[in-house]
Amino acid sequence: MNIAKKNAAIAALGMVEDGMVLGLGSGSTAEIFIELLGAQVRQGMNVTGVPTSAATAACAKEHGVPLVDPDKVDRIHLTIDGADEIDENFQMIKGGGACLLREKIIADVSEHMAVIVDASKMVKTLGKFVLPVEVDPFAMGLTVERIYTAMGQAGIKNVETTLRPIKRGKKPLVTDGGNYIVDCACKKITDPILLSGLLNSIPGVMEHGLFINLADTIIIGEKDMAKVMEIVRE
Ligand code: A5P
Repeated sequence: MNIAKKNAAIAALGMVEDGMVLGLGSGSTAEIFIELLGAQVRQGMNVTGVPTSAATAACAKEHGVPLVDPDKVDRIHLTIDGADEIDENFQMIKGGGACLLREKIIADVSEHMAVIVDASKMVKTLGKFVLPVEVDPFAMGLTVERIYTAMGQAGIKNVETTLRPIKRGKKPLVTDGGNYIVDCACKKITDPILLSGLLNSIPGVMEHGLFINLADTIIIGEKDMAKVMEIVRE
């Protein structure tokens, strides 16, 4: 187990209170958190989780974390999730695991989002990691043209796009929501808020990996500790 990710997950566990409904993120760091949470549940902690992917639901079941249907809860107190990149304004790229749509739905309705990462995820400017854009397979070519236009309007030139394939094969990966992922190599996203708005206005774009103003706490795991950073939003 990656020790930095584990230290971030341990620190996040300290934010969990008895009786909470938790948004459970996706990816390797979130899964470490879920494993640790399962140990607390076995010792009597009373929490329920809303999973952000089928993989997370399976992980929660394996570790004995009770799950609840998102439509059966009236609030989600805290979401704990990983990230692919975070900048100094707490804006993020997520979706490396193709779970961005459900992750964003849950992060958006959560009262608090804590992001658990190792230091490699912290960047000055977003964009070194590809930006995943989840698209409806219908008329995908036309949607990709609109994505190029949006990128140009946000000052990003020469974007390379790749239809994400399944892990071991050539077929396109299909998300939990039945969509495809177009990975956009942007190199530098200098205005993530502008780009997010432009992508949001394209009908064939189901969601994209820019998570704007969603993270409230960032927990950066290190070798023997974790650093916690908070942002205060009006
Ligand atoms: C899943 O779609 C992603 O948003 C993950 O949260 C992100 O890729 C972080 O994953 P790791 O914790 O495995 O680095």
